[in-house]
Amino acid sequence: MIRGKTAIVTGGSRGIGRAIVEKLASQGANVAVIYAGSQDLAQQVCTQCAQQYGSELKAYQCDVSDYEAVRQTVAQIRKEFGTVHILVNNAGITRDGLIAVMPREDLDAVIDTNLKGAFHMIRHCTGLFLRNREGCIVNIASVSGLMGNGGQCNYAASKAGLIGLTKSVARELASKGVRCNAIAPGFIETDMTRSQQENPLLTSIPLGRMGKPEEVADAVAFLVSADYITGEVLRVDGGIAM
Ligand code: NAI
Repeated sequence: MIRGKTAIVTGGSRGIGRAIVEKLASQGANVAVIYAGSQDLAQQVCTQCAQQYGSELKAYQCDVSDYEAVRQTVAQIRKEFGTVHILVNNAGITRDGLIAVMPREDLDAVIDTNLKGAFHMIRHCTGLFLRNREGCIVNIASVSGLMGNGGQCNYAASKAGLIGLTKSVARELASKGVRCNAIAPGFIETDMTRSQQENPLLTSIPLGRMGKPEEVADAVAFLVSADYITGEVLRVDGGIAM
């Protein structure tokens, strides 16, 4: 049941995150949209969804890789929305390159955002979930974290770590009424994959096309409503990682 719940979506101003915000708002959730830099886009999605669906939405600037900033932002969201029921860790970056020459900064940036960012968000929302004896976390991982991908050692490691985090949180909090699942998207049409149009891996997608952000958002809505599913990694990948 999504109607009337409060959700936090990180990286919600564009791409997959934006589609998730729109989906949850369309089903009656109030949404705190966390964005890194693009205030105009974040504000735009909030205004549009509030008008269209009558939900309450608010944008918060926060770098999820910053532990203290996340603590303060979650506290502010809690103050302004009253509580939080759903957390979607979607914020993510790539810094692709070959491991033999990858600068350490590219490893750090990707781990700090994709893995530690999700950890920080979960860390600071869990107290609230435990008090409510209710909470649902969805982490946006990647098929790279399941299959590995040459040229993406940093990114694949961050997403495989996110899957380990998902299953551990699921085990730790299941008895307290908190579920935690992951989605592993394949190639989805967003800014992140704009440079991938010629990638030979695209021809090996069994369903023969890239996915759409809305198709990932549908899976998020499903997992949020699926009361008996926890610790799952749901592929939304056209079959590429089967
Ligand atoms: P995108 O680049 O369009 O959007 C990423 C969002 O994360 C942006 O709004 C950005 O501002 C935000 N973000 C980045 N660093 C942040 C930080 N430190 N703090 C707060 N927000 C931050 O990417 P896209 O494609 O929408 O990806 C969303 C998620 O889906 C990512 O976690 C990505 O790894 C994952 N994914 C995407 C796939 C694709 O094919 N597009 C495939 C598999 C996974």
